[in-house]
Amino acid sequence: MPERNNTPAAMLPKHIAIIMDGNGRWAKQRGQVRMAGHRAGIESVRRVVQRAAEKGIEVLTLFAFGQENWRRPKQEISYLHSLLFSALQRELAKLMENNIRLRFIGDLAALQPKLQQQLQMAVEKTHHNTGMWLVIAFNYSGQWDITEATRKVAVEVQAGHLSAQSITQAHIANQLSTADLPLPDLFIRTSGEYRLSNFLLWQLAYAELYFTPIYWPDFTEADLEKALAAFAQRERRFGAINDIAREAGTLQKEDIIIEAINYLES
Ligand code: IPE
Ligand code: IPE
Ligand code: MG
Repeated sequence: MPERNNTPAAMLPKHIAIIMDGNGRWAKQRGQVRMAGHRAGIESVRRVVQRAAEKGIEVLTLFAFGQENWRRPKQEISYLHSLLFSALQRELAKLMENNIRLRFIGDLAALQPKLQQQLQMAVEKTHHNTGMWLVIAFNYSGQWDITEATRKVAVEVQAGHLSAQSITQAHIANQLSTADLPLPDLFIRTSGEYRLSNFLLWQLAYAELYFTPIYWPDFTEADLEKALAAFAQRERRFGAINDIAREAGTLQKEDIIIEAINYLES
């Protein structure tokens, strides 16, 4: 296929985070109900997971249900939850085949016990896989994630293991739901909306942002490749001035990036 392999492996992101948006409008455009858009969106998930894994991406995080999405009609909420349930049931074998490790981030305790059990079962099943991490953000909120992390640090302080004065960024970062994963370096949002909608607020501090007008159910492997090509063109500076440092002969651009990533992840 022509869209394959046009981005050298060294220039690929480690962690791609996607807000899969536009399912409702995709359906409306076709005179269908919103649920049809959500169902069609599952196909895009399948395509993107497969291609990202093939390309050796380390982590793919997908925003599937936000805490603000409880504001939607009850029927749509239960459809989205049951879609997760059925998609997992159907796709688990494929995840195993592709050596993918699954995990969920978000307030899972608020979900139906049956769904919670199923998510846990799927996570356990893929536990020994060694390939790409597929992280599904479900009942997730970035502010919730930071609040939970803060609460955990506060417990440490309360227990006398840590003083309030010695709290660092790393203490908070280490308690986030994604603590052991590399930070997202590429953020994609479909459907032409230009906002974060309470997704990974802390973690996206230095991600490259990529927006496309395409509705999620129309997002293909070729669109993922386009986003990857755009990422490879970006100059990541992390607050430094790459050219000056390079001209002075003291640092290579790659050194600056490695230093910056180490700093952000420390
Ligand atoms: C994204 O599509 C899916 C979820 C939020 C679960 P939307 O349902 O937000 O679709 P639009 O934005 O209304 O088109
Ligand atoms: C964000 O999309 C949440 C998910 C994709 C799961 P929304 O469509 O809910 O976001 P807003 O409401 O347009 O900001
Ligand atoms: Mg939307």
